[in-house]
Amino acid sequence: MHFPANFTWGVATSAFQIEGAARADGKGASIWDTFCQNPANIDDRSNGDVACDHYHTYREDVALMAALGVDAYRFSMAWTRVQPEGKGAWNEAGFDFYKRLMDALQDKGIAPHLTLYHWDLPQGLQDGGGWLSRDTAHRFADYAQEVARRFGDRLATIATHNEPWCTANLGYGNAQFAPGVADKKQAVQVSHHLLLSHGLAMQAMRAAGTKAQLGIVLNQWTADPATDSEADRALAKLEWARSVQWFMDPIFKRRYPELALAHHGADAPLVHAGDFDIIAQPLDFLGVNYYRREVMSAEDPPRKPEGGQGFTDMGWEIYPQGLTELLLQLKAEYALPPIYITENGMASSDHVEAGEVNDTVRLEYVRTHLEALKAAMDQGVDVRGYFLWSLLDNFEWNSGYTKRFGIVYVDYATQARIPKASALWYRDFLAGQRRSR
Ligand code: NOJ
Repeated sequence: MHFPANFTWGVATSAFQIEGAARADGKGASIWDTFCQNPANIDDRSNGDVACDHYHTYREDVALMAALGVDAYRFSMAWTRVQPEGKGAWNEAGFDFYKRLMDALQDKGIAPHLTLYHWDLPQGLQDGGGWLSRDTAHRFADYAQEVARRFGDRLATIATHNEPWCTANLGYGNAQFAPGVADKKQAVQVSHHLLLSHGLAMQAMRAAGTKAQLGIVLNQWTADPATDSEADRALAKLEWARSVQWFMDPIFKRRYPELALAHHGADAPLVHAGDFDIIAQPLDFLGVNYYRREVMSAEDPPRKPEGGQGFTDMGWEIYPQGLTELLLQLKAEYALPPIYITENGMASSDHVEAGEVNDTVRLEYVRTHLEALKAAMDQGVDVRGYFLWSLLDNFEWNSGYTKRFGIVYVDYATQARIPKASALWYRDFLAGQRRSR
């Protein structure tokens, strides 16, 4: 497997999942701090107060990355660290943490790839209506512009949102994520405001004259019918429309997909004149997070995927060829910018035995997904990089610390880090790629 010599190899994390230091140096509360206060929301009744304590261990964590030999690190900024209320005063101590992190990365020659919003909205903005309010989109653009102004010349890429599908559908659709609302109509409206905020932020960052490449990160999957029945095939088409096209069409085609709009009916979003012109800002890159496909069944109870290649600890089907199919389908439907695979990886029930963690299932997962990625590139999809989720075991949202996605094991009692077999494999794989450059 030989990837192009200039291909970017990285690992990914996000602020709330690893930083901890929930109240340090003037940080404000986010909706996830609030959500975790109700222990019933999180499987192990945990929270992000300490997490991987990365706020204090970032130098050690950057050294781990350097030992892996990665070119790049994708991380997110906690909006509440740099602007505690989500509007008004900036918090210099918060910016200083990210400056020190970038300095440490620069020392090791690792390129920083920033996500502005990985789900931790300032609680102050939530109190004023959160993503249900159009005003939040404007506050987000202000934040984006300030970050671009300060750091735009040293970041390789800036992504506006990470997985807005989750913010809308899990945050507002089924209450699985903060802020814990279950209301389909609100979820659809929130998705529109997220897209609007993306467009406004792109304009604001471009106005700041940033050198960083600008884009958005979407979670995407193919949707296959469980059987050849007409009902299953119709459901699969609808699933593609309401999850993938729902976020892609506004950006690339200035509209929502008809099929999904008809499905939403009275829940369709309120769109102001000119919104699509704002949303459809040209992207320098598209970030794609791929974990699995969907298998759609109209039967009751629905048919489950057969899962010939197994399931992860999240219960997600392992289906590497879905990555090839997804990228080819995107290429067929859209005039795509260069793509980064901004996340890919799996949860497994890892254990330390004699000081080692033998997660062969994860390294096989990564290897087969890289083969699937290469197959798409060989068929003409322009992919520039791959970020493995995740560097560290971390706070897996409503699953708390019960799910381990890291290639480095974290012992939460001691904060010790143990590179798993998958980390050593990734290191050797990257060394092999470099040798053939
Ligand atoms: C996507 C999210 O961006 C990330 O925060 C999460 O941990 C992984 N998927 C795994 O579920």
